[in-house]
Amino acid sequence: MSLHIGDTAPNFTADSTVGEINLHKWAEDSWVFFFSHPADFTPVCTTEMGRTAQLADKFSARNTKPLGLSTDIVEEHWDWIHDVNSTQNTTVHFPILADPDCAIAKLYDMIHPGESDTEAVRSVFIIDPDKKIRLTMTYPMSVGRNFDEILRVIDALQLGDKNRIATPADWRPGDKVIIPPSIDNDEAAKLFPDGWEELRPYLRLTEAT
Ligand code: BEZ
Repeated sequence: MSLHIGDTAPNFTADSTVGEINLHKWAEDSWVFFFSHPADFTPVCTTEMGRTAQLADKFSARNTKPLGLSTDIVEEHWDWIHDVNSTQNTTVHFPILADPDCAIAKLYDMIHPGESDTEAVRSVFIIDPDKKIRLTMTYPMSVGRNFDEILRVIDALQLGDKNRIATPADWRPGDKVIIPPSIDNDEAAKLFPDGWEELRPYLRLTEAT
């Protein structure tokens, strides 16, 4: 099934390293960083699991719950977590879903036959508290994801929701933001009383926190 931004994240119930998880119930009012891995005991995945655990405070500060998936069984995940903890100097607390029959991987279109018929590629779904998919990203098996970018895009989405703004290329928190063309100058004056810089009528920069 091909999923798009704006779709409701398909719900599922599955076994995980912290017990059975029903995605929508487990997410509660949080954002979810849902990310898949080809297999346990593989090197790139080990570093990504470790990095996610190291960033636990940063995800929590963004009201975001990480949720991993690997196409293996829970008992293997537990053994692997020992390796992740000891090689990456961290402690994995977030859940890793078991998906031995690839049911969730297929539901979320994480199986890309050009890479593997039986293992998931490195998919990312950022899901908001309304259970809407807000970002999709797919990396090949051989390239570990950039976790600075994952945190950055969560920041951008949350700032956009709060202030009705968009963010420019390479935006970082604290940088100027864009007033979208859907907001005319009359409305912009109410929303951004401190004003904006107008480089073009369609390119207006302002501050937002
Ligand atoms: C890895 O996680 O290192 C990996 C997994 C599958 C294919 C290539 C690399």
